[in-house]
Amino acid sequence: MTIHGVESEPVGTFPSSGLDVLVVGTGLAGLTAAIECIRKGHNVRVLERAASINTLGDMYFMGLPATRFFKHWPEMKEEYDSIGLHNAWIETYKHSGEQVVKPLYVNERLKAAGLDPKTPPGTFQLRPLIYRMFVKQVERLGVKIEFNTRVVDYFEDETTGKGGCVSEDGKRFEADVVIAADGVGSKSQKLVGGQVRARSSGRAMWRAAFPIENLDKDPEVKAHYTMIGPDNSEPIVRTYLGPGTYGMTLTRPETMIWIINHNATGSSAENWSNTIEPQEVLDEMDKGVGPNPWSPMMKRLIACTPEKTIVNFELLWRDPQPSWKSPNGRVIQIGDAAHSFLPASGNGATQAIEDAVSLASCLHLAGSKDKIPEAVDAHIRFRFIRNACAQKVGFSNAELLQDTDWSKVKFDPRRAQPKHPRWVWEHDPEVYTYENFAKNVEAMKKGVRFDESDVSPNFPKGYKYEPWSIEGVMEDMKAGRPVDLGPGDWN
Ligand SMILES: Cc1cc2nc3c(=O)[nH]c(=O)nc-3n(C[C@H](O)[C@H](O)[C@H](O)COP(=O)(O)OP(=O)(O)OC[C@H]3O[C@@H](n4cnc5c(N)ncnc54)[C@H](O)[C@@H]3O)c2cc1C
Ligand SMILES: *[C@@H]1O[C@H](CO)[C@@H](O)[C@H](O)[C@H]1NC(C)=O
Ligand SMILES: *[C@@H]1O[C@H](CO)[C@@H](O)[C@H](O)[C@H]1NC(C)=O
Repeated sequence: MTIHGVESEPVGTFPSSGLDVLVVGTGLAGLTAAIECIRKGHNVRVLERAASINTLGDMYFMGLPATRFFKHWPEMKEEYDSIGLHNAWIETYKHSGEQVVKPLYVNERLKAAGLDPKTPPGTFQLRPLIYRMFVKQVERLGVKIEFNTRVVDYFEDETTGKGGCVSEDGKRFEADVVIAADGVGSKSQKLVGGQVRARSSGRAMWRAAFPIENLDKDPEVKAHYTMIGPDNSEPIVRTYLGPGTYGMTLTRPETMIWIINHNATGSSAENWSNTIEPQEVLDEMDKGVGPNPWSPMMKRLIACTPEKTIVNFELLWRDPQPSWKSPNGRVIQIGDAAHSFLPASGNGATQAIEDAVSLASCLHLAGSKDKIPEAVDAHIRFRFIRNACAQKVGFSNAELLQDTDWSKVKFDPRRAQPKHPRWVWEHDPEVYTYENFAKNVEAMKKGVRFDESDVSPNFPKGYKYEPWSIEGVMEDMKAGRPVDLGPGDWN
């Protein structure tokens, strides 16, 4: 067995597989699936409901496992290296504005933790820049994307062995395998039978990203939220921790970003286009944060934010979905369609890309059309427990950030940082798939659970999967208990 993914294998390395793949959605999951399936020799078509690729948004955390596959895409790798945050700093405040941890050079901190600063466990990235990078790659490849195509239903046909979907205007599309990458609320839920209820966590986030020139309106704000290091040329993340809230700012070349976590208000919605104006934030932000109001400088930063920029994003919770595929394995969900993450988990984008890389590889290993259902099952076994664990860490992180215990922060500044465990970032979804596919399929055929098989775990070592629910997690939080992660090495 050749282990692919260790060396660079650009487009053209893999012979044609003859498999027709239909991808629905051009988020990170769909775009990665499209280019990786093309590289692995599959024929790819893409559908998207919007009129173009939506490059809105502010930032997200891109974990190392989601960027390893760039080695196969030299132009993307070059661009990623140029837009990435090098030489970043991090500084911690109380929400009231009192500094608690001086600016630290992230590279130094990585070295102190025994890590290589050249390959950090992940970095914050600007969504618009990452998307533009993907769009250019898709254009270079000449990928066929049919825009303005809103999918309303999915189907599969056992006799022909095809999967398919139907668009709003009644057009039918078919392929050997359909990848539903249409995000939270995927229209494939009905066929897959994995529908889970979305419930309000009671929390929401104000989030804004805008051109840094807007800070010229208030010179003191501009001076305070300056970059740092030699000639003030290095980006800095400032985190704010307070009772029942946290915030974050990022100052980088050209762009200013801020985020504040708060109780959901009437205007919160799970929608990246749901904007409100600065005054509403200023009117609401001091409610429920105890005797000390928010830092005046943070308020002035908010006041500098241009109109129609602040997204009031409601955080909805969903239990892990029991199933990600249609009964005969011809429709398979990836990314947010299969599992939703809270933004504070730092894992939504990463897991979406990992899914896409894993699935493209499993389909390559399937080799023929009749083996697709087996490959889809193998892919889900590789992904399910890892994802459920990452979701749980996300809740645990949210709790950690919201309820800072200052007596502990004093002794251990790491408590003020979200958990980003080794089992999360050490993974390479492509190499892992090639190393373990045969073993995984064998165990699957014998009916051995994935976490009891001899496949090396890509989740906390020693963990045994047990279904869990948001309700249980919420009970722990309400009772002031740390989230019960379960057995195994979660660090
Ligand atoms: C506009 C936008 C801005 C975002 N900004 C941020 C951010 O700032 N920070 C952050 O952490 N996360 C952000 N996210 C979420 C983040 O991109 C995802 O959580 C993560 O990357 C997983 O991506 P995904 O590809 O699974 O889903 P998504 O990124 O949600 O992509 C789903 C795609 O499917 C398309 N689609 C949906 N329904 C249909 C349908 N019925 N038919 C056809 N196409 C359909 C959508 O238009 C979209 O292009 C944003 C998402 C969007 C869509
Ligand atoms: C999201 O918000 C925008 C702007 O308010 C609105 O036009 C759009 O219909 C909303 N989308 C959904 C799915 O509610
Ligand atoms: C936020 O919600 C929590 C839990 O419901 C509540 O205890 C707290 O008082 C709320 N804060 C505000 C500002 O309403």
